[in-house]
Amino acid sequence: MMSNDIVEISKDIYFIGVFDPEIRTFDIIMKTSNGTSYNSYLIKTSEGIIIVDGVKLEFQEQFFKKIEQHCTYDEIKYVISHHLEPDHAGSIPELIRRAPQAKVLISPQATSMLKAITKTETIDFETVWTNKSITLGNKTIQFLTTPYLHWPETMSSYVVENKLLFSGDVFGSHYCDKRLFNDLVGDFAYSFQYYYDHIMRPFKSYVLSAIKLYEKFEIDMIATLHGPILKENPKKYIDLYKKWSEVDCEKLASGNKIVSIFYLTSYKNTRNMAEKIYEGCESVEGIVANVYDLASLGEQNMLKLLDESDGILIGTPTINGDAPRPVWDLLSCMMFLEKKGKMAGAFGSYGWSGEAIDMILHRMKFLNFRVPPLDLLKIKLIPNEEELQRCFNHGVEFCEILKGKMVEMTMN
Ligand SMILES: Cc1cc2nc3c(=O)[nH]c(=O)nc-3n(C[C@H](O)[C@H](O)[C@H](O)COP(=O)(O)O)c2cc1C
Ligand SMILES: [Fe+2]
Ligand SMILES: [Fe+2]
Repeated sequence: MMSNDIVEISKDIYFIGVFDPEIRTFDIIMKTSNGTSYNSYLIKTSEGIIIVDGVKLEFQEQFFKKIEQHCTYDEIKYVISHHLEPDHAGSIPELIRRAPQAKVLISPQATSMLKAITKTETIDFETVWTNKSITLGNKTIQFLTTPYLHWPETMSSYVVENKLLFSGDVFGSHYCDKRLFNDLVGDFAYSFQYYYDHIMRPFKSYVLSAIKLYEKFEIDMIATLHGPILKENPKKYIDLYKKWSEVDCEKLASGNKIVSIFYLTSYKNTRNMAEKIYEGCESVEGIVANVYDLASLGEQNMLKLLDESDGILIGTPTINGDAPRPVWDLLSCMMFLEKKGKMAGAFGSYGWSGEAIDMILHRMKFLNFRVPPLDLLKIKLIPNEEELQRCFNHGVEFCEILKGKMVEMTMN
């Protein structure tokens, strides 16, 4: 590391990012007890400069000072923007103003976003994707289409001569440590996993597609957009993402589908319904069903159970015209999980209006669950024998559809 703040992370590639040690809440949904960094890079080639990503607007003066330590703005030939979220693109409009000759390289999905953040139609940009590359002097950069990690426009790129992957937010950690490299900073394992859980886990299948692309390259270093640069054993981090994103092999091998029935109850009416539904589910071959009382299930357990479930049934009484909070807590966990392919339904006991069940169904449709068009399972107060039989049948039908019985699905 050189004394005047210039850090060459790999031959001709410099760190020009900034540190934000004070931030404690990121993007509303994440706690950051160690702050974060907005990593940005500068590549010196024999034919000019490439800037890789920017920083949050409030920090842009530091970022420009760092650029000025390396070059003049007219030497910048390209600006690569892997992700247009403001923590990285905040400084892009001003950078383009200072270096109008530079061509901005983005994914096709980023086009409308770039126009929206720069408020101009006349920007010089080009879109890039997998198999496209640019060569500037002695450096070649190959682009990799890695969408939804974690926005639709996100992409990655690979510097051939350095065997270096620019991964965007992938493999990031909100962990501010000026020692910069994973083998020098403190123990950031908790933050690496926390970041995955909150930002990448909802896009597991996209993570696996990105890893397939990454694995085609020999990678000596991963230059992330937040937290430590992964220099020592980068493969370890790729393997962790892979492990966290893969479907449980044991479950897959068994061929069973898991149905989780969650309920809340004050007078056991909804609970009795849940138990009959459970019996119905269990009577279907290839289904493993379980029942959970939401009143005492912590958020971590909710996440784990939702993640492993193929089918989710939520039972709720209607209380003061609504579903009580634990039901909404369960559904708000879905923000951190991939909904793709999961099937869902709702049921419950009510006194006179019963709108909680409709609200939950509506919400599940908007969350993009598959909600099969079964009869609405709303029972007035205490379920009688005939109604309990309906609950049993509901469980059977739900599971048969889950196993592949054809029905027309309702879309939101
Ligand atoms: C405080 C309170 C508020 C209620 N509000 C409603 C309501 O707004 N609409 C409705 O249909 N039933 C309402 N009910 C009736 C319950 O939904 C009904 O008793 C139901 O059978 C309870 O099911 P459980 O035994 O599974 O909790 C309310 C009950 C209580 C105790
Ligand atoms: Fe982001
Ligand atoms: Fe970010």
